[in-house]
Amino acid sequence: MRKKITVVGAGNVGATLAQRIAERDYADVVLVDIIEGLPQGKALDIMESGPVLGFDSQVVGTNGYDETAGSSLIVITSGIARKPGMSRDDLVRTNQQIVTEVVRKVTQNAASDAVLIVVTNPLDAMAQLAYSVSKLPKQRVIGMAGVLDTARFRAFIAQELRVSVRDVQAYVLGGHGDTMVPLTRLTTVAGVPVSQLIREDRLAQIVQRTRDGGAEIVNLLKTGSAYYAPSASVLAMVDAVTFDQHRILPCSVYLEGEYGVHNLYVGVPAQLGAGGVERVVEVDLTDSDRVALQRSADAVKELVEVMGI
Ligand SMILES: NC(=O)c1ccc[n+]([C@@H]2O[C@H](COP(=O)([O-])OP(=O)(O)OC[C@H]3O[C@@H](n4cnc5c(N)ncnc54)[C@H](O)[C@@H]3O)[C@@H](O)[C@H]2O)c1
Repeated sequence: MRKKITVVGAGNVGATLAQRIAERDYADVVLVDIIEGLPQGKALDIMESGPVLGFDSQVVGTNGYDETAGSSLIVITSGIARKPGMSRDDLVRTNQQIVTEVVRKVTQNAASDAVLIVVTNPLDAMAQLAYSVSKLPKQRVIGMAGVLDTARFRAFIAQELRVSVRDVQAYVLGGHGDTMVPLTRLTTVAGVPVSQLIREDRLAQIVQRTRDGGAEIVNLLKTGSAYYAPSASVLAMVDAVTFDQHRILPCSVYLEGEYGVHNLYVGVPAQLGAGGVERVVEVDLTDSDRVALQRSADAVKELVEVMGI
């Protein structure tokens, strides 16, 4: 039997993700939104591309949760996105209400071993909220941010050096936001440290552009925020879980002492397989990286305190 994947939020990220999953042809998709007609219309439209592209995935749109029963993977994209001038943290109160309600409903009738991937911003705080509301084991609640932040960093480095993105490996740790920590020391191009290929001052500019990567797109679009790279990044995590790939991807996960962070969702490299997070990968950090990661964790903690969870 095909797996069932639920995507909550049929907006830019959710609908594009539903399309990407359907086109991969390994799972049926349930698309949920509160706006009447929106998930139904988009689901039908995606499904009607099946005969042309050659996939048999069923895509169902709904305003309720009956159709989500038995889902093995749930992706939460519901919530408001940033407008120009807003930080991700400005979204916290509205999205706290939305994510709380959605997590309660969607986990009620999901598969007993379901894995939850959170995309709604502010990401690390929303992942923590979903963990707390769902009461699922920490391994099965994961936030998506690092794959996207790393993808942006890799894209900029590849552009700079005119090399294939495939040959650029990079690490971005920390919270999804202005405090993210791109680890240039562990960033390589076909195994060669990037510091040998790009001058320090230029690399610093690329790091800054990576930090501002989301805002750059928000400012260009003026309405809405990025969704092509975000949905592709979620898909990498969905694939890793669905196919038990044991991939090491930067994700927001619940730390209990790793990297010196306690009881908080922060972005670190994690190995993902069928059960969700299989292990947190600890890499040696320099003192300045450690300070930057702690600053990032402190920013997440502040938001968690604002939410009162
Ligand atoms: N983690 C990341 O890296 C990352 C990247 C991109 C976007 N995001 C975040 O993802 C979220 C979605 O972004 P988007 O561009 O798709 O926004 P969007 O506005 O296009 O879509 C959000 C959808 O959520 C729906 N929604 C609102 N409340 C709901 C509820 N209670 N139940 C079901 N659906 C509900 C809305 O009707 C809307 O269709 C935002 O919070 C955004 O900031 C995160």
